Amino acid sequence: MRPVDVIRRKRDGEELSPDAIRALIAGLMSGEIPTYQAAAWLMAVYFRGLGRAELAALTDAMLHSGEVMDLSSIAAVKVDKHSTGGVGDKISLCLAPAVAACGVAVPMISGRGLGHTGGTLDKLESIPGFKVDLAPARFLEVVREHGLALIGQTATVVPADRLLYGLRDVTATVESIPLIASSIMSKKLAEGIDALVLDVKFGAGAFMKTLKDARALAEVLVAIGADAGKRVTALVTAMDQPIGRAVGNASEMREAIEVLKGSGPEDTRALTVKLGGEMLVLGGAAADAAAGEERIAEALASGAGLDRLRRVVIAQGGDVRVIDDPSLLPQPRARVEVPAPVGGIVQTIDAEKIGRAAMVLGAGRRKAEDDVDATAGIEVLHKVGDHVREGSPLCVLELGDAAGVADARALALEAYTIADAVPRRAPLVAAVIRSHEPGSPPEAATA
Ligand code: URA
Repeated sequence: MRPVDVIRRKRDGEELSPDAIRALIAGLMSGEIPTYQAAAWLMAVYFRGLGRAELAALTDAMLHSGEVMDLSSIAAVKVDKHSTGGVGDKISLCLAPAVAACGVAVPMISGRGLGHTGGTLDKLESIPGFKVDLAPARFLEVVREHGLALIGQTATVVPADRLLYGLRDVTATVESIPLIASSIMSKKLAEGIDALVLDVKFGAGAFMKTLKDARALAEVLVAIGADAGKRVTALVTAMDQPIGRAVGNASEMREAIEVLKGSGPEDTRALTVKLGGEMLVLGGAAADAAAGEERIAEALASGAGLDRLRRVVIAQGGDVRVIDDPSLLPQPRARVEVPAPVGGIVQTIDAEKIGRAAMVLGAGRRKAEDDVDATAGIEVLHKVGDHVREGSPLCVLELGDAAGVADARALALEAYTIADAVPRRAPLVAAVIRSHEPGSPPEAATA
């Protein structure tokens, strides 16, 4: 079928055959199909959506556009976790070592931060010497030996996503559930994992602003995984305020170490335990979510998770002294308090604005090529529901080398709403969507 016919059929709401979709992606990759035709097709998908078979074909074509990892030499069930992106979201850093300490292999491939959301790789790189670009053979070795390795994507994994995402970015077609879902799942499936836990966020700081949209995205992500023969569990979680108190790179690493020492902010611990519990179920290390959560809580309380992180930091070349003395992580050059303009109860904290304030200070990047400043960020002193006095500090700007204090202060102030009423909070986990019956054995999904 000619590309123009594929575009026309999608424009008119018809279902495309898997072959037509595969040919489109292959043509785009080879350069036979120009980007303007791919862009027109993306817009047609934006308006018309994709059916389940179309989505499976698109994800599969993207997945096979590059290198697919082979982790079959690792006998343990391999489970990864992916978050659709949040502010203060250091959960992977707490979770992955705790899950590995419970006997489930975690070959974690993470991304960098972009825009107002942070990235796990940037946080890890705040540990002096820590390498996130291990060669595939070394990655396998570290997972085999320690049950965990934490690396970034290579340029050869899902190159079709890089091309398509670049086009979506400049054609206003990013906010499409099938396009987001195929983009995320093609990259996760390329890791060669057996199972996946997804944290699909909704609220002011998330891609999906409403619970309804986040649930729809979660259902599509889970369906793609199931069609690829993987067990996938998605938790739909609130991103209505930053997670924990630290928003930044080194500061989030420090907070993750606190959680692994059995303390840290309550919401961060709770989310770690919830997501970790599901990973243990998928990895066959717990009979159900409650048992999994109990094991993760134990791994945090006993220091077993922290010990696993210590081993992985050594294996990946990082300065292991930061585990026992997190003050050795890069520190901000100055701290500037942002006082409350009025007294009352914190009603909301717009996580996107806090994320943007941190970005202005240098913690995030506007463009993929930008560097981040490990020391910059925001410390959120007061969270939703806290009582504050007029003039007392709401949050602290942690300054690195960048200017922008005035803009960051204005954004931080805009982020807070303070009034006298007792605020209504969204539950931390609003929905759980599974590709499988709870309690079914892990082999069922990998067959
Ligand atoms: N994350 C991705 O990897 N892709 C998207 O399209 C959106 C979020």
